[in-house]
Parts: sequence; structure tokens; C-alpha cells
Amino acid sequence: MPSNPILRAQIVRALIQYFESDDRRIDHALRVLHHAEDALADSPECDPDIVIASALLHDVGIKVSEEKHGHNNAKTQEQYGPAVAKDLLDSISFPAEKTAIVMNIIGNHHSPSRFDYPELEVLKKADQIVNRG
Ligand SMILES: [Fe+2]
Repeated sequence: MPSNPILRAQIVRALIQYFESDDRRIDHALRVLHHAEDALADSPECDPDIVIASALLHDVGIKVSEEKHGHNNAKTQEQYGPAVAKDLLDSISFPAEKTAIVMNIIGNHHSPSRFDYPELEVLKKADQIVNRG
């Protein structure tokens, strides 16, 4: 299944509008997207739309956590991220059944997997590659 370049652009636009001038977060998301899309070539079982949305939006909970608590950690990212991702994906009419999976992935990306989605493993690996620097 080929990925959809328009969809990617729509989510990038929503991500940038959300993070505004937080270039570090935007850069991180784009780097994770790059590695996640690399992995797609060897992961025909993955839905590219879900991989792209998860990669770009996986850390959106950071902003809410920092606004509410003045800090963020793995747990608060998982706690606040899914609802923000849903708002952003709804704004571009992303399919609801895929949004539900993206929300589960974002809510689980820093802890032992509770779901057997191949897209969750692709995201975790891409995030690890980027965080390793
Ligand atoms: Fe990340």
C-alpha cells in the first residue's frame, strides 16, 4: 500500500500549527517520520497512513503536559497525547477507525506494548533511533 503524500503534508501542517515556534519538537517529529518511512519499505503489514500519523504526532502530549505541570515525562506524554492527536486528525478528516489506532499507539509508545500493531513497533524503533542521536 503506497503512502499518501497529501496526507503527510496535511498532518505536517497540523503539527506545525500545533507546535508553533517549537522548532525542536517539529524537527524531532520529522526525523522520526523519516526513519518510520524507511522502515515501511520492509514492513508491508503496516498501514502507511497510521505509521505517518503516529510518527508525526507521537509527542504532541508534551505541550499539554508542560502547560499543566511545567514538565513532561513518558507517562504524561502517553496520557495527554491521544486526545490532542485526535483533535488534529479530526481537523483533516483522517479516517476515524485509523485515528483510534493512532491514539492507542501514541498512548503506548513509551511503555511495554499493550497492542500488537506492527505500526507501534515501527514508531518505537524510529523514536529510539532518533533519540539515540
Ligand atoms: Fe519521540
